Amino acid sequence: MISKHVEKMAPSGIREFFDLVLGMPDVISLGVGEPDFITPWRIREKAITALEEGVTSYTSNQGLFLLRDSIADHLKTQYRLNYKPDKEILITVGVSEGLDLSLRAILEPKDKVIVVAPYYVAYPALVELNHGKVLLLETKQEDNFKIDPKKLSQLLKQNPKAIILNYPSNPSGATYTAPELKKIWNLLAKKELIVISDETYDLLTYGQKHICFPSLAKSAKEKTILLNGFSKGHAMTGFRVGFACGSSEIIQAMTKIHSYSVMCGPVISQVAATEALLAKKEVKTMKTEYMRRRDFLVEELGRLGFSVSLPQGAFYCFASLEKFKFNSLDFAKKLLVKEKVAVVPGLAFGKNYKKYIRLSYANSLDNLKEAIVRIERFLKSL
Ligand SMILES: Cc1ncc(COP(=O)(O)O)c(C=O)c1O
Repeated sequence: MISKHVEKMAPSGIREFFDLVLGMPDVISLGVGEPDFITPWRIREKAITALEEGVTSYTSNQGLFLLRDSIADHLKTQYRLNYKPDKEILITVGVSEGLDLSLRAILEPKDKVIVVAPYYVAYPALVELNHGKVLLLETKQEDNFKIDPKKLSQLLKQNPKAIILNYPSNPSGATYTAPELKKIWNLLAKKELIVISDETYDLLTYGQKHICFPSLAKSAKEKTILLNGFSKGHAMTGFRVGFACGSSEIIQAMTKIHSYSVMCGPVISQVAATEALLAKKEVKTMKTEYMRRRDFLVEELGRLGFSVSLPQGAFYCFASLEKFKFNSLDFAKKLLVKEKVAVVPGLAFGKNYKKYIRLSYANSLDNLKEAIVRIERFLKSL
């Protein structure tokens, strides 16, 4: 009954582990990939008012014009990028839908797509669901999990149709400076390929400026599908709003698929997102808190003997277990059973990352402090 390519998709390597987490009370979960903050009040209030006013209909397939226009303004002020709200911006159901639509719009069966590892878990799965072939571009801790241009050049010889970039990265927290991105773009520019740039965590970039990929050059903008949304920086995961920006040809193709598959994003969430773009103070407060937690967690993990580089964005630490001679699935299972702390084994982000665990600091400082006490006790018991 099930289509062959869905059936042969590898199940998540950590499903068994998360089944264990679900059945356990009093767990401190550093496994989740979503903000622990409730959506700022002014955004919720906007949604409540819209509901009270009876805003309950479909929107245009491309999404509320007011939201697209506000996004165009935001990208212009933040990154000096000009996208036309009528033709070059599509409102999606989270970045998740934007990713799926991008791949659906451009891939022919067996087209190759470069995925940078360690990767966000959905990338390889979505490439495969869309009948593409994943070319893995692995990064190393000694390079701070950044792309090695030599390795990229090698993979480009296989003529991929697209590359998915994600910075700041889930799970490594790596991000790039303008010169680093230019080096990458110079290599990509020589090829006929589409760049899918998932910049979901742009607002959570620490200590440096986020450089938006299409802002690198006019030609970079022409070849890039920029994906972003409101889930992370604005703490709006449950609202399910994202956006895709690109050439009108690509955005029209994506809109065609979107109009048949989901029709439009939820109207209340789109109204709320217009307010989110004004909530700069609230975003800054959350970012400052994430930085405080990051500094605490990195220092404490270092003290306990983990090898971990300072994440420059998002809200994850990707820590090496090298010193403990443990494979991360065993480590995570034992830590969960003995001390009720959940972390994600590195295997989830690529088969060569078994020595790593991902810890999310989208959790209160008190919980992080308690988690460190428990991890320390666990290490002493080994
Ligand atoms: C890198 C990355 N891209 C996309 C998503 C999906 O986000 P959304 O809630 O906007 O669908 C996530 C969520 O964890 C993510 O980490």
